[in-house]
Amino acid sequence: MAATVAQETILFTRGVPAAEALPAEQLAECFAAVVKRDPVGVLQYGNAAGYPPLRRRLAEQYQLSDDHVFVTNGSLQLMDLLAALLVKPGDTVLVEQPSYDRAIITFRRRGAKVIGIPLESDGLDVGRLEAQIRQKVPAFIYLIPDFQNPSGSTLSEAKRRRVLELAAQHGFWMLEDVPYRRLRYRGESPPMLREIDPSRVLTMSSHSKLIAPALRVGHLVAPPEIVAALAKIGEDTYLSPVHPAQAMLYEYVNRGWLEPNVERLKQLYAPRWQATIQAVKRHLPNVRFTEPDGGFFLSITFPAGAHTGNLLERAKQGGLALTDGRAFFAEPDDPAVPQAPEAERFIRLPFCALTEQQIDEGMRRLARAVAG
Ligand SMILES: Cc1ncc(COP(=O)(O)O)c(C=O)c1O
Repeated sequence: MAATVAQETILFTRGVPAAEALPAEQLAECFAAVVKRDPVGVLQYGNAAGYPPLRRRLAEQYQLSDDHVFVTNGSLQLMDLLAALLVKPGDTVLVEQPSYDRAIITFRRRGAKVIGIPLESDGLDVGRLEAQIRQKVPAFIYLIPDFQNPSGSTLSEAKRRRVLELAAQHGFWMLEDVPYRRLRYRGESPPMLREIDPSRVLTMSSHSKLIAPALRVGHLVAPPEIVAALAKIGEDTYLSPVHPAQAMLYEYVNRGWLEPNVERLKQLYAPRWQATIQAVKRHLPNVRFTEPDGGFFLSITFPAGAHTGNLLERAKQGGLALTDGRAFFAEPDDPAVPQAPEAERFIRLPFCALTEQQIDEGMRRLARAVAG
């Protein structure tokens, strides 16, 4: 018999799509179709920059030629290859603070000193960014402008314009990562950085959250010389990316199935998003948080003085799994302002893979853990 919500551990740890969101039948059909239609293209070692029909399709979407598109095994690997290409010894990489934990790890592993620029409810603190750039121009700045992981915040259009001006003035790259952008539950999207001014922008995204993470298909839109250099590092690392997965994705998009799938996901996730906002307000009235307008995450910061020491362990005892908030914090931009106290009070709440009932019960357990 399935465990009831009362008995089960509720997992607020993983930013993954809901199991019921994965379009298994459609993907099986796509795989069968492409492997029959293009057996050598799909099953032989292939182009290191990606399955050519998918590259073309993505390039059309951005109204660019194919050589602007690099498709690889998930966008995390893309970040790793990009860092291998762009980070030189002694370089800094700037990220929002907090930011995607694995991006911080990846840039660091490639030798970057990763510095966090604090986030406000409408995106990063531009004053602090300017001060940091005056100290040292970074190799690049990594931004998740829409429904940021982990905070859920969206970068305002005014700030997008200002950051682009700074990038043009000081000549650094801006890596805009937009895997959640299509999953907007209310309001209008500000333009992408690329749409305002593409000259210093590298745009990356992924179909992990829109179709299925296990496809491991991420892509980058960038100047052709960057794409060519990445394809060379990719080829030296894995010969060719996983073309069967890219071909399945191509088929899926070509059949016109992506748009209805995104609509289906929004219908599935919007009530969970609303339930999360309501549950936080109901059970945790004293926490600070930004209401996201879409995506997978809402994050909270407990007030200073809240009983957060050993919170993860106490939450676990109470049937609630949480991620350590400190993972999302890089080094602070101002050494005089240590981030650790804030990071220790920070909790990310991914809501898409939980039911409304689990979300409400999870917040109740979190309130109890922090009170105990
Ligand atoms: C902002 C962001 N970028 C990239 C990724 C990695 O995605 P992929 O599955 O394409 O490697 C994630 C995964 O959670 C993410 O949140």
